This record gives sequence, structure tokens and C-alpha cells, in this order.
Amino acid sequence: MTDRARKILVTSALPYANGPIHIGHLVEYIQTDIWVRFQKLRGHACYYVCADDAHGTPIMLRAQAEGITPEALIARVGREHRDDFADFLIGFDHYHSTHSPENRELVETLYRRNRDGGHIATRVIEQLYDPERGMFLPDRFIKGECPRCGAPDQYGDACEACGATYSPTDLKHPVSAVSGATPVPKESLHYFFKLGDFEPMLRRWTRAGHLQEEVQHKLDEWFAEGLKEWDISRDPPYFGFRIPDIEEEKYFYVWMDAPVGYMASFKALCAREGLDFDAWWGPDSDAELYHFIGKDIIYFHALFWPAMLEGAGFRKPTAIFAHGFLTVDGKKMSKSRGTFIKARTWLDHLPPEPLRYYFAAKLGPGIDDIDLNLEDFVQRVNSDLVGKVVNIASRCAGFIHKRFGDRLAEALPAPDLYATFLQAGEEIARLYEAREFGHAMREIMALADAANQYIDEQKPWVRIKQPDQAPEVQAICTQGLNLFRVLMAYLKPVLPAMAERVEAFLRCAPLTWINIREPLLSHTIERFEPLMTRIDPERVAAVLEASRADLAAEAPAPAAPSASAGPPAKEPIAPEITIDDFAKVDLRVARIAKAEQVAGADRLLRLELDLGGETRQVFAGIRSAYAPEDLVGRLTVMVANLKPRKMRFGVSEGMMLAAGPGGKDLFLLTPDAGAEPGMRVR
Ligand code: MSP
Ligand code: ZN
Repeated sequence: MTDRARKILVTSALPYANGPIHIGHLVEYIQTDIWVRFQKLRGHACYYVCADDAHGTPIMLRAQAEGITPEALIARVGREHRDDFADFLIGFDHYHSTHSPENRELVETLYRRNRDGGHIATRVIEQLYDPERGMFLPDRFIKGECPRCGAPDQYGDACEACGATYSPTDLKHPVSAVSGATPVPKESLHYFFKLGDFEPMLRRWTRAGHLQEEVQHKLDEWFAEGLKEWDISRDPPYFGFRIPDIEEEKYFYVWMDAPVGYMASFKALCAREGLDFDAWWGPDSDAELYHFIGKDIIYFHALFWPAMLEGAGFRKPTAIFAHGFLTVDGKKMSKSRGTFIKARTWLDHLPPEPLRYYFAAKLGPGIDDIDLNLEDFVQRVNSDLVGKVVNIASRCAGFIHKRFGDRLAEALPAPDLYATFLQAGEEIARLYEAREFGHAMREIMALADAANQYIDEQKPWVRIKQPDQAPEVQAICTQGLNLFRVLMAYLKPVLPAMAERVEAFLRCAPLTWINIREPLLSHTIERFEPLMTRIDPERVAAVLEASRADLAAEAPAPAAPSASAGPPAKEPIAPEITIDDFAKVDLRVARIAKAEQVAGADRLLRLELDLGGETRQVFAGIRSAYAPEDLVGRLTVMVANLKPRKMRFGVSEGMMLAAGPGGKDLFLLTPDAGAEPGMRVR
């Protein structure tokens, strides 16, 4: 049934060690884990390695902000990541860190071999430098006004308002996000990887079946734009590895040593398991190598990585499998909507396997985004896993227990039906192999329907009332439980913990694609315990609520309601506060004395609010809903004791109260007639 045993090495992208795992990441780790578990169940020698991506400026700055060393930060986050993955049943064979001796050694090897091959160039370049912090600023740490549309507060590489991309030196009024200082241009010597040296190889390689079709098209565009030299060095201060063999202090850019982390993690596994590293990574390796990644990091994996490997005399990947991004209820994950859900927050309220199943049901081999629709999630899991699959077992197990002393019959009454189920295993295996998980889940659910239909037709609950029908009832239930067992073998890559519970319930050997060929007959099983329970939609609501609370704990609410907040009806109520908490908020009636647009800020209005003797300046993000002339003279409500916030355009000395999700749907609060400016709102 299985093809010859293959040697397969699989990786997922290495998560950055400066933040928690969230459900977007989980799309990737769950997808990879399902594929790896499938390969193992088919009897192949398959290893799954990953690591934390521990270097770079954001990690250095994050550690500084927390007042700890980067080593302490990556150790803590590394532990959290491992726990999150373990609890989502991600079965890495090894989980490493890029800040490891193996990785240092390997990145030096890759660098030296490429350098000796003439593929490294040096050149002086000019970059923006933060004179206060004494550091060069990555694009993401420079903010300013978009050179195209003038939107304020945009990052140095792209504008979130109009989508323009540019270089940080194009920004108007740039400021360092690290210190607030105005950055200055400064020169320094950089090391470059000459990607263009590998163009002929890359053109061939990217068209030789190693990439998905959509990805290949993307690469054609990049080839058309020309392959540029890649800057692989960074100046201190930087958390990373020193570039060896040179006098000056230069560091490898994080993306240089990150993919090498795949090799380093595997190398650590080799030491543990006694595997031969070169048999997997050497130029003549007969092993297969697959990288699962998100579509945002294709350039690194499909161009730089094979070129660096080639330049250093290592083998190249067999294939790169890119996936799309996760949306929740059709929208980008959002902190204010509560849909930016950390793995841990999910686990605090819900088990991991329903999410694994839902992602499996949604995943295909392409790079389309996948949507977690929360209503559909509850409905799908309850109807498929509980209503269809577990239902088969629960309908049969009771009779076997109560009437037959937990003993299965000697023979299957419908061997053809069993054979059909086994037969379907080949198609299901083909679908798993091709990462057609959604399609595989549909096939499996069609079999579950067939099993339920069989039980419906045989009506064991009717027959049991006739004493002479007892043997038939035992046989029907034996058939049902054996069909259920086959389905659980097929679902095992997706639901590994549930499969284990089923193995315990049926007292059978760990399920594989092969050992299900022998049905369980004349065999004693355990009493049935619920294998999976229905999901209560309240639990999902609790996840959203807790995610919003996470946000509140992380950062104070923005001064202006953000235009990307969610639809009003679905916004859950925030966590409870006491009357004392509430009493701290001083709400006042205010008269809008003046309102005007702010040049360069397309969301903001500058307001002067009269509190009956005192005037406050407030910047409010309500320009999308109100014109200044509609506001002057009207009464509204403001938070009068909010700590003043320095914004780019001036100090905001309070906050307006408005209802609604944002954009045009924003509604300022208005007190009833009779209220006077300065009155406290209670
Ligand atoms: N550290 C780099 C990868 C280095 S690999 C040599 C990185 N880290 S990441 O933490 O930002 O992302 C890790 C993986 O998760 C990436 O493949 C990324 O595409 C994926 N995802 C992160 N957010 C995601 C979604 N919202 N949806 C789906 N996948 C997402 O990139
Ligand atoms: Zn713009």
C-alpha cells in the first residue's frame, strides 16, 4: 500500500522570538504538522524541525525595553513558544534556536564558502541613523508622513493608508520610532550577497517543479525586475552573530542566519538521534527537503536560500510550500476586534483539536488566504466531528457494553463496506500528500455519512428488542466500531490526541494506514467515554473577550477610535471593572469651541473644547465622519482627566467620546438639553 520508505525532512518557518504565537502562525504549524504526521503514518522516515528566530533589531530593542538581556528574552519566549506548540500538538522532532552554536558554525560555513566563491561584495552605503540612540534604523523603526498621500505616522517602507512603497529617506518629517529623534543620513560599509551570480541556476530551478504555480509567476515578476545584491550585514549595536574573519564589528543580518537555522536544528537532532547530517544536506543527498512557509517570505526562500545553498555546496530544497494568510470572520486579525488571538488565549478556553480540524477543512495546496469564520467553526466542528464521527462510536458502544460484555463479534456482517473504507484510504492518502487537506476532510466526512447510514438502515436499537436478533446487533455494532476505527486512522494526522483516546477505547495498537486492514474481531474494548464534546459558542465569545483584555493590558487605548475597529453588533463587552475604577474617569460636558482640519493628518480634527472656563485642545480621529463646520457650537462629552499625550501635531489634552466602529460610522455623544459645559457626567 505504501510506496518505498522515503527520507523526508520538513520545516516550518522559524517564528520570531519577540512575540507570542498567534492563530495566524498556527495555520502554518498545523498545516506542516498534519503533513508530517501523515508521512510518518505511512511509514516514511520523516523528521520535522523548527527553531526560534532569535536575532535582529526588534528583539534587541524589545529586550532593552524590558530591561533584560536579549538572551534572557529569547530564553523566555522560547519556552512560551515550545509550550504553545506542544499544547497545539505540533510534534516537532526537534525545536532549536538560531542563537545556537550549531547555527553560528553553519552560517559561518555558508558565508565563507560563498565569499571564497566570489559571491560576496562590499560597498559603502548611506542609511538613516538615530543620533540619540547611536544606531542605524531599520525601515520599520522610522515613521513619518507618506510621500504620496501625506498620511501621518507611516513606516519607512510602505504606507498603510494608500499602499505606496518607498524608501525611508523619502518619508516627510521622519522620526526615529526608537527615540523620537530626527534621523540623519550616515555612511557605513556593508556586505552583500551577489544574488545575480545565481540567476541562470535560479531561473532553471524555479521552473523545475520545486514551487507552486502561483509562486512561480511571482518569481517571474522578480526576475523581470532584476535580481539585486542582498545586504547581509548590519552595524552594531545588533543582536546576532559577528561576521567572521574581518577586523570591524559587523553582524550577519537576521535573515542571513534564519534559514540556516533549519540546518542547525537538524544538526542538533542528528547529534541526538545519531543521524548522518551530510546524507541529508550534502550535494548528493537522496533525502527530500520541504519548507512550509507563509507567502510573505517567498523571496527569501525561493531566491536567496537556494542560491546561498548552491554557493556553499549544499543541496537545495525539494520543494517550498507556501500558504496564505489567516483572516478571522473575513477580516485581517485585529486587536480591537479581539480577533488577534494568541495560541495561549485560545487554549485557556478551547481545546486545540477543533482548530486543527477546522484549518484542515479549509486548507488547500495554494496560497489563498484562509478564513476562520467563528460561527462556521462551531457549526462545522459540532456537526462533523461530534455529530458524524463520534456519533458512530457512541451509537454502537452502548450495546457492546450493556449487552455483550464489551466484546466485539467474530466477523464483519458487511465486509464489502469495510473494503470500501479501506479502498478510500488510497485517495485520501493522495490528497494528504498533495496538501489537499480540505478535500481529504470532505472524503472522510462522506465515509462518516456512509457509516451512519449503515447504522440507520440496520436499526440496532429496534432489533435489540427481539432476543433472537442479539447476534446481529453485536455484528452491526462491531461493523460500526470498525468503520469508526478506519476513519480515526484517516483523521489521525489532524486529531492525534483524539486518535490516542480512540486507541485506548478500542484497546488497539496505535493506528496506522496499514494496520487498519485487519479489523478488530473477537476483541474486548473499553467502556466508551466521550471522545470529543460539542463546542459551546460561549467559549468562542470568551476567547474574543480575553483577546481584547490582552490588548488592554498591553497598551492604553488609542486616543482616537481607530477606523479599523469592528462592526458594532459583534463587539463583545469589555472585562468587568469596579465602581471605583469607573469613578477614576472624569467625564465632562464640553462645548466644541473650535474645530479644524490638521494638515497632513487625514483622520484627525483639532478641537478646542470649552469646559466652562477652561479650554482644552483635543485631537480626535473623527474626520471621516464629521466636517469641522458641523461641530462648532455643539455640546458633547469628553474624558477630562486623561493624561495629556504628545502627538506629532501637538498635545492632546483629553478624549472625545464617540460610538461606532469607525470610518463614517462614528457618532459623537450629545447630552440632553439643559446640560452645561463643565458639568461632570456620572
Ligand atoms: N522569522 C521569520 C521566518 C524565518 S524562516 C527562516 C518570520 N517569522 S514570523 O513569526 O513572522 O512568521 C512565522 C511564519 O508564520 C511565517 O511563515 C509567516 O508567514 C507565518 N504567519 C505569520 N502570521 C500569519 C498569518 N496571519 N496567517 C498565516 N500565516 C502567518 O517570518
Ligand atoms: Zn500613503
